[in-house]
Amino acid sequence: MELPGIAVAIWMFVGLCASVVGYPNGKVREACTSMVPCHGGSPQLSPEHAITVNETEFKPGDSIEVRLSGPDFEGFFIQARDAEHLGSPAVGSFVLADRRHSQLLTCVVGSNSAVSHTSKAKKKDIKVYWIAPGDAPKRVQFLATVVKKYRIFWVKIPGPIVSQPDALSPTPPSHATSEAMSTSHPVSHISNASGCGMTKFCIRNPANCDPGSASCFFLSFQHEESSVFIEMSGPSEGYLAFAFSHDQWMGGDDAYLCVNEDHRVHVSTAHLKERSHPLLDAENALEDVSWRFADGVLQCSFRRSVRLPAYTGRFNLDTSYYIFLADGEASGLIHKHHCQPLVTDGLYNITGLPQDIGGSRAPRLIKAHGALMFIAWITTVSIGVIVARFFKPVWSHSFLLGKELWFQVHRMLMLTTVILTSISFVLPFVYRGGWSHQAGFHPYLGCAVMALTIFQPLMAGFRPSLVTMFLGMDLPALDLPDPWDTYAMIGFVAWHVGTDVLLEIHSYCLIRKVEVIEDDRVQILQSLTSAEAEGHLFKQIVLTIYVCGNIVFLVAFLVAINQV
Ligand SMILES: *[C@@H]1O[C@H](CO)[C@@H](O)[C@H](O)[C@H]1NC(C)=O
Ligand SMILES: *[C@@H]1O[C@H](CO)[C@@H](O)[C@H](O)[C@H]1NC(C)=O
Ligand SMILES: *[C@@H]1O[C@H](CO)[C@@H](O)[C@H](O)[C@H]1NC(C)=O
Repeated sequence: MELPGIAVAIWMFVGLCASVVGYPNGKVREACTSMVPCHGGSPQLSPEHAITVNETEFKPGDSIEVRLSGPDFEGFFIQARDAEHLGSPAVGSFVLADRRHSQLLTCVVGSNSAVSHTSKAKKKDIKVYWIAPGDAPKRVQFLATVVKKYRIFWVKIPGPIVSQPDALSPTPPSHATSEAMSTSHPVSHISNASGCGMTKFCIRNPANCDPGSASCFFLSFQHEESSVFIEMSGPSEGYLAFAFSHDQWMGGDDAYLCVNEDHRVHVSTAHLKERSHPLLDAENALEDVSWRFADGVLQCSFRRSVRLPAYTGRFNLDTSYYIFLADGEASGLIHKHHCQPLVTDGLYNITGLPQDIGGSRAPRLIKAHGALMFIAWITTVSIGVIVARFFKPVWSHSFLLGKELWFQVHRMLMLTTVILTSISFVLPFVYRGGWSHQAGFHPYLGCAVMALTIFQPLMAGFRPSLVTMFLGMDLPALDLPDPWDTYAMIGFVAWHVGTDVLLEIHSYCLIRKVEVIEDDRVQILQSLTSAEAEGHLFKQIVLTIYVCGNIVFLVAFLVAINQV
């Protein structure tokens, strides 16, 4: 190819910066190694483009047809690497099929060991041939970097693995465990829920969701004689994990993790000691490992024996356990799960009768705590406060059990609040078995609210209790949907303050009207009572609407708590 053509093409290739034109210097090597374009910005996560090959086996000297296809793209960069050492230099060489859109590049040592685009013209499909070298590794994987637009690009999209025939011979049993991790490869099938409850034991969140969908966490166990085939799927860019536990607490558990790193998924086991980062086992006892990562949904599947006496951390699967399902970010280290892990509501024997169950991300005691607090502070307190403030004149002539009606209503509501708050108050302490240091200010404010509720059962408790509720709604143990919870709470505060202000303005106008009538000294008595009656009717209508509104807010919050 003529020199200017190469120069333009190389300059165009996003991985190579302008200064390298014509000179295979360090920067070329760098792009050859990292396959990252010099655009700035970070690569996209779920690839849209796929690499396909026409054969999965090769011998030295064979040629394999390699295609890269997908939605319109501008730039690309294809290499073949040792599948066991994806960080190592490119292997083999390429032959072009289409000189108009593709060109050969020389990376580090191997000449023609990479292919890239010649221009920014949009393309959908690129075909090249890869020639296997004499010293090829046993297993070779194709990798591609694709640039859709300047800032939209994918790096090292994993392609198919091709292998030399003798590499396919069965590995000796003694190596099976350490090989399991490195021989894992993408699967094309998507786990489905068709056998749930019949042939396999499933855990789904939300209940009965479809594992292919973008918001479904799915875990299934298929018991086959002495082994169990396990599938896990869920929306996560980082990791998905499940664990068997003797209790509903993290610690002392047998955990299985699928960790997505750089578009490759590692399946590992870990023994969870405390509530901290899991230490991944160097060796694991998993077989038939495969995985898939597409559209933000991570899936993996593997098999293990029911009993694994040789591995100390692995539990026997013919007993009952609580099962945890968690997800979170993974960047080198496994980070804390996004929200509280899903925990089954009881002990389950996954090798026993197949079942199809759900689970909850919030412990029942904490849900009850939240629900009681919402009932107390959205209905009883706020209505009680409004009654005391504005309904003295309205209900002062009606009596209930020897006391004025407004006072009886007010006292009943406030007493209910104290009872509900007291019951609710002890639940988190029962759940934690003491003080929680992970809940921030919430427990401190909660104690303040409790004190105010008991010693000054009036307006004073209202404001700190609202702050406490705002902080409590986002605690991991009861994580209501974001940002819905904050908006709903702001909506409720606006509703309460709005009603308050409306009644305040109304009282002020009523007093003014009465004053005007008194000044005129015309039909004083009659007008006064009619004006007052009018005012009372208005207040009662406002109270009715206010109570209905509160009930709507309460139902919304209770439904949200129930769904966590
Ligand atoms: C795959 O493509 C190569 C290169 O064109 C060709 O030699 C080989 O026969 C093809 N294999 C199959 C199975 O079509
Ligand atoms: C689910 O998988 C089974 C086999 O694993 C298959 O027979 C069935 O057709 C699949 N169902 C759907 C809806 O894909
Ligand atoms: C669990 O199920 C297996 C298979 O049905 C059975 O052998 C085992 O005894 C069960 N374990 C418990 C604790 O029920």
